[in-house]
Amino acid sequence: MTQGNRAPFVVAHRGSSAARPEHTLAAYELALTEGADGVECDVRLTRDGHLVCVHDRTVDRTSDATGLVSELTLDELREMNFGTADAPSGVLALSDLIGLVLDWRSRPTKLFIETKHPVRYGALVENKVLAELQRFGIATPASADHSRAVVMSFAATAVWRIRRAAPLLPTVLLGESSRFLGGSAATTVGATAVGPSVKTLREHPELVDKAAAAGRATYCWTVDDPDDVKLCADLGVSWIATNHPARTKALLA
Ligand code: G3P
Ligand code: CA
Repeated sequence: MTQGNRAPFVVAHRGSSAARPEHTLAAYELALTEGADGVECDVRLTRDGHLVCVHDRTVDRTSDATGLVSELTLDELREMNFGTADAPSGVLALSDLIGLVLDWRSRPTKLFIETKHPVRYGALVENKVLAELQRFGIATPASADHSRAVVMSFAATAVWRIRRAAPLLPTVLLGESSRFLGGSAATTVGATAVGPSVKTLREHPELVDKAAAAGRATYCWTVDDPDDVKLCADLGVSWIATNHPARTKALLA
């Protein structure tokens, strides 16, 4: 994830989520069609141990049903509608999304996986993410290419667990505090990039150079305002996550 003088890579946040319902197949297919360099997803564990792409603890905001993801099975989640009335869509399992990204033959695209994990799961979510990636041939000890996936978390312990289990897999330590991201945490856990919010970056643009001096890239989220896209480009941010990948690609062209 080095940057040099090139424009930031564009990551579709929850897919092309300004145009399609977030975390749906339609949102990710559109993002890939629009030329996104990467796609972002949040993962949570179902009651029966599957990883699904859902941001919130509950399905209330993003589906036609209610309930905690952790108390629902994958089959139950598949019955719910995460799309629209006109274009229904079941929940997306992480394995569905990995398959889609790897099958997208026109361009190699990166998958940015953010683990959302209650403390009670311990290392379970990270271990399952790694197992899924390894099932698809990514991040195995023998794999020559660890570049198709990046694992991210606001939890330093989660990043540390990933680095320990898969030392070559890129990671992003997310945060909103400049003291946290500019301090020693990223070095301690071995994160290959830091991930400030765009608000944090506006207030602390020095974070980019500070990360670069330590050999780390910067991933900024969620960059929808054209002025912020320009700021990120001027600062040398490596990756920007946006809900508007097509517009952002055009701005950076
Ligand atoms: O890409 C990182 C960003 O998604 C973190 O915030 O709440 O949208 O998951 P959130
Ligand atoms: Ca996220």
